[in-house]
Amino acid sequence: MASQEDVFKKLVAHCKEYGFVFPSSEIYDGLGAVYDYGQNGVELKNNIKKYWWDSMILLHENIVGIDAAIFMHPTTWKASGHVDAFNDPLIDNRDSKKRYRADVLIEEQLAKYDEKINKECDKAAKRFGESFDREMFCQTNARVQEYAQKRDVLHARFVAALEANNLEELKQIIIDEEIVCPISGTRNWTDVRQFNLMFSTEMGSTSDGAMKVYLRPETAQGIFVNYLNVQKTGRMKIPFGIAQIGKAFRNEIVARQFIFRMREFEQMEMQFFVKPGTELQWFEHWKAFRLKWHKALGLGDHKYRYHDHDKLAHYANAATDIEFEMPFGFKEVEGIHSRTDFDLGSHEKYSGKNIKYFDPEINQSYTPFVIETSIGVDRMFLSIMSAAYCEEMLEGGDSRVVLKFPAVLAPVKACVMPLVKKDGLPEKAREIMNLLKFDFKCSYDEKDSIGKRYRRQDAVGTPFCITVDHQTLEDGCVTIRHRDTMQQQRVKIEELHSIIDEQVNMKNLFKKIVE
Ligand code: GAP
Repeated sequence: MASQEDVFKKLVAHCKEYGFVFPSSEIYDGLGAVYDYGQNGVELKNNIKKYWWDSMILLHENIVGIDAAIFMHPTTWKASGHVDAFNDPLIDNRDSKKRYRADVLIEEQLAKYDEKINKECDKAAKRFGESFDREMFCQTNARVQEYAQKRDVLHARFVAALEANNLEELKQIIIDEEIVCPISGTRNWTDVRQFNLMFSTEMGSTSDGAMKVYLRPETAQGIFVNYLNVQKTGRMKIPFGIAQIGKAFRNEIVARQFIFRMREFEQMEMQFFVKPGTELQWFEHWKAFRLKWHKALGLGDHKYRYHDHDKLAHYANAATDIEFEMPFGFKEVEGIHSRTDFDLGSHEKYSGKNIKYFDPEINQSYTPFVIETSIGVDRMFLSIMSAAYCEEMLEGGDSRVVLKFPAVLAPVKACVMPLVKKDGLPEKAREIMNLLKFDFKCSYDEKDSIGKRYRRQDAVGTPFCITVDHQTLEDGCVTIRHRDTMQQQRVKIEELHSIIDEQVNMKNLFKKIVE
């Protein structure tokens, strides 16, 4: 069986070969952690964004959208705390000259203890068979106990070091745990230093005195500085939300794992403004709602889990990640944060403007508290891709690679294929394209055998292939072939629209979320 690492490599290669994701400026050998989306990738990405946007804007009367600029007044980032506190602790290995995030090295070490525990359990499960009681085994097995204790001690030390921003202690942990550089295999580490992740550039000509501006590291601040504009012009009443989709930029130290950690990426963020004191209730509400949104896609409920933060960001009083099981383990896809009144309070202080909300129900002004849901489009894309990618052996020794996308997100919904390129079949196929194209992204393919055409569509995840044959000209029926089951069905041309719509209409997912 192929290792998870091999599967991931194949997935990355597949993304390139089938027009999903290309390395940026590839003809110049690419640019670290920057990627371009190809013809199929952009369709998938747009569908993800639509699924998110409509779930916020259509399903909630009290949520509206905005589209703020990437550049913002530089004081924004002073007020938000990003100039002073948006840092990662970095450490270099002197032999390999490679740079790492000290916290990530330690998190990986923690994961190693968990792996060791799992291995012991798997071995014992094999030995004991059906009578194996995992919980009991973990409580009594000396080796498992030893690993668990080491992990817990390390975890406590790590959290304390993060909380205290103690860089020497982070280095000491790396030394004590005998963590080696994966490239050089040595422990020749530098001290841990803080590294600010914001990109900056200059605005205006230098002779006029250029101003240093930042490329936004999160879209959220565009919402905060506009919240009162939206509230007043939209006559919004608390609780209400503002949603936004847009690019964000971070000069990530460790840029690995394809589009998981990028230097230019896209976020879908929603800030929900609530009355102080109600924020933790709303935090629970949004945690539950967002998980439902993920699960409605049907990728498998067991692939998701919550992960509460060990260290809260400088603005938060509660925070949870929704993690997804990627080929390289459970990883954060979305963050849900209770941001208190930190941002609005700070913008009020730095701008000198009164940006309090006047609550007509209690006849008082106050600074709203904020619950944020923040999901990376690219990470969502990667989770969908990883869950969809499938290599299957078929009867007769044949095999196929198929992307089993949720049909609503598939880049192309249906491919129309005339069996042969003559006898009026292409014309009939075009007629069918013209029937469907106003509602569904369709493609047309008349090259090669039907079998080869099916494989091509499987590889880009098209849920339906529609074949027009000579019989079609006589009885107005076509063969519709379903991607996942490969089953074929003979249906009337007039039925095609409803068969496809039933599977690809987002309405069906939205109903699941709100029920
Ligand atoms: N406004 C809050 C915020 O930005 P975050 O946890 O730093 O919080 C939110 O980021 C989401 O943005 C993450 O859950 C992830 O999906 C995405 N994200 C963050 N950094 C990223 C990166 N370098 N590459 C791709 N996606 C990233």
